[in-house]
Amino acid sequence: MNHSNIPKPLPFADGSTGLKVLRSLAQARSPLAALQTMHQTMGDVFQITLPQFNPAVLVGPENNRHVLVSGRADFLWRTETDPVTRLLRHGLLVEDGTEHDRLRRVMEPPLYRRELLGHVEKFWQHTDRVTATWRGRADMLVEMRKLALLILMDTLFGVDFQPDLDRMWRPILKAIQYISPGLWILWPKLPRFGYHHPLAQLDAYLYDLIARRRVAGGSGDDLLGRLAAAPGFDDHLIRDQLLTMLIAGHDTSTALLAWVLVLLGQHPAILAQVQAEVDKVLGTRPPTADHLAELPLLDQIIKETLRLYPPIHLGNRKAKEELNVGGYRIPQNTRVMLSIYLSHRHPAHWTAPDRFCPHRFDRETGDKPPPLTYIPFGGGPRNCIGAAFAQVEAKIVLARLLQTHRFTLEKQRITAHMGATLEPHPGVWMGVERR
Ligand code: HEM
Repeated sequence: MNHSNIPKPLPFADGSTGLKVLRSLAQARSPLAALQTMHQTMGDVFQITLPQFNPAVLVGPENNRHVLVSGRADFLWRTETDPVTRLLRHGLLVEDGTEHDRLRRVMEPPLYRRELLGHVEKFWQHTDRVTATWRGRADMLVEMRKLALLILMDTLFGVDFQPDLDRMWRPILKAIQYISPGLWILWPKLPRFGYHHPLAQLDAYLYDLIARRRVAGGSGDDLLGRLAAAPGFDDHLIRDQLLTMLIAGHDTSTALLAWVLVLLGQHPAILAQVQAEVDKVLGTRPPTADHLAELPLLDQIIKETLRLYPPIHLGNRKAKEELNVGGYRIPQNTRVMLSIYLSHRHPAHWTAPDRFCPHRFDRETGDKPPPLTYIPFGGGPRNCIGAAFAQVEAKIVLARLLQTHRFTLEKQRITAHMGATLEPHPGVWMGVERR
């Protein structure tokens, strides 16, 4: 019998490895540090062993390829008991199989790059709207969320969200909190108080948007219009897609924009360089689609920020059946977590992986990690539907911010918090001065 073909059980942290993991958790007060220690000591496949929570964690290009491309049919996206499924019900993000593909076909066209380029003006106009209220200092985590919401609601749902921003702020934050990691991971049946009213308020808002679009008799070319006109989409299914896009499409951009500002604040020399690039290319004119290819340093800064702090730092799956991944046995129904964060800091594929170094994305002189090592937007057929949207939005918004304002990061402790996204915690206070 050839024993080399028999998959090994998943390694987990016990004995001295367990102590090391606990020590890094205590020192850094962050599960991310503990994950990094587990990766260093056990390699690209390992298991977390907490009571009721035993996911297999996969890292690195080969495992990413397995889950996202070659073996993707072996995994399910939907886990009925997870809060994200309870919240989004039949949203694109939590559907599997042919129903997922049907939803995706309807929802994709408004997010094609050529459609997005028509929104560039809105991207910088909303930026100006938000910055017009700034007086000396502001929390960029809050400001970037406002901006991401105004942009998303306008471009995909055809709504000016400004008048509703204050009223809907808490319901949106509660929805995000509802799906963020918490004690429910260890006790899935734990009752969750304080969500019923805000989530109902959010639903009422979305159903009202749908009703108003139907009364207007209209479809329209935006996402809401396409959903309203598509056969087989009742109001409930449309609500699920709107909520999916609202959460997945703004919380991620919020985190990205806020992290870029943190990193620029922490690296004033790079901030000065990128501000000079923006000044040279734009002068005093607002950014246009033609400028997108003319801002290479800004492009590298966005990519490097997504590497260090990928807003979606985990891909969450369930093994449909017993699997062999990289020579390890993953039992059926095991939760499988693809760690984008650890792949992006894999010491075998990046030089000085924990350092902020935008030039590593220079095409000629930069790092050359194997394909599917860098996956801020996932990969394969089920990659991020909003990847082009997010990248164009980030570039236009940041170019406009840098063109119009000087930023200084205030002294504060900022850590990476694992909420629904990986966000700078507790906020990002910056001095802001109009140029
Ligand atoms: C910086 C911004 C963003 C990042 C880093 C990001 C990241 C990701 C990642 C990693 C995935 C795949 C998750 C997995 O494989 O488990 C994903 C999927 C998804 N994203 Fe994004 N995203 C961003 C912006 C957006 C935007 C702007 C939208 C909508 C307008 C959006 C909507 C979605 C949806 C609906 C899916 C599920 C797609 C499917 O399963 O077919 N995302 N995103």
